[in-house]
Amino acid sequence: MISPQTSLLQSLSHRLALATVIGLSLISAGCSTTPTATTGQPETADPAVAPAVAQAPALRSPDVIYVPTPQAVVDRMLAIAKVNSKDKLYDLGSGDGRIPITAARKFGIRATGIDINPERIREANINAKKAGVTDRVRFLNQDLFQSKFSDATVVTLYLLPELNVKLRPQLLSQLKPGTRIVSHAFDMGDWKPDRIEQVGGSTIYFWTVPANPPANLRASQVVRYPVAP
Ligand SMILES: C[S@@+](CC[C@H](N)C(=O)[O-])C[C@H]1O[C@@H](n2cnc3c(N)ncnc32)[C@H](O)[C@@H]1O
Repeated sequence: MISPQTSLLQSLSHRLALATVIGLSLISAGCSTTPTATTGQPETADPAVAPAVAQAPALRSPDVIYVPTPQAVVDRMLAIAKVNSKDKLYDLGSGDGRIPITAARKFGIRATGIDINPERIREANINAKKAGVTDRVRFLNQDLFQSKFSDATVVTLYLLPELNVKLRPQLLSQLKPGTRIVSHAFDMGDWKPDRIEQVGGSTIYFWTVPANPPANLRASQVVRYPVAP
């Protein structure tokens, strides 16, 4: 049985060769919808979720495949971040929306999910509706590297190590000091976490945005992808 982490890392090592294939398969995998002739966006039978999808611009391929965080790990990530009723949470690369939906359901907070794949956005909107949290949760079909999330007090991640490092300057320039960041499975390079915790087979990393981040953490890093053997 292949672990989610292994699956993600495999995607990393084959990333360059498979980028196009992964992008296409993500868009088609699990899709019961078909692109419309006019917009290129999936049709949906549910009018409640149609606007978010219909307005979504065509975006590039995802940087990482979709693998959901197990619910027990989601619950622990929110506990480690000490999410409370005053928080605003963003999940960058939100998949089926389970992290924002859980945060809104358990703590009554406003939460935003950002995902580049319109099919994930469609699923997340359906899941938010089922959970009865559409008044507090929104899902944006955006590239997280182009997104604005400066009003967040908690940010959650389940990406890849080099994507976390690439995102680091954006996190440190946009987020206010004291904002909490929790990452499932992957660290953030030179930025040492305040806390690391194991939950089952998963690792959770936790950081707090400092008032004056050191220059080396704010600078963009050259991201090198391993070449597939
Ligand atoms: C490993 S999944 C994590 C899903 C969810 N956060 C969770 O923990 O269950 C990564 C998600 O990131 C999305 N993604 C990949 N590249 C992205 C990008 N550049 N901008 C926004 N979302 C992206 C994928 O579509 C996928 O849904």
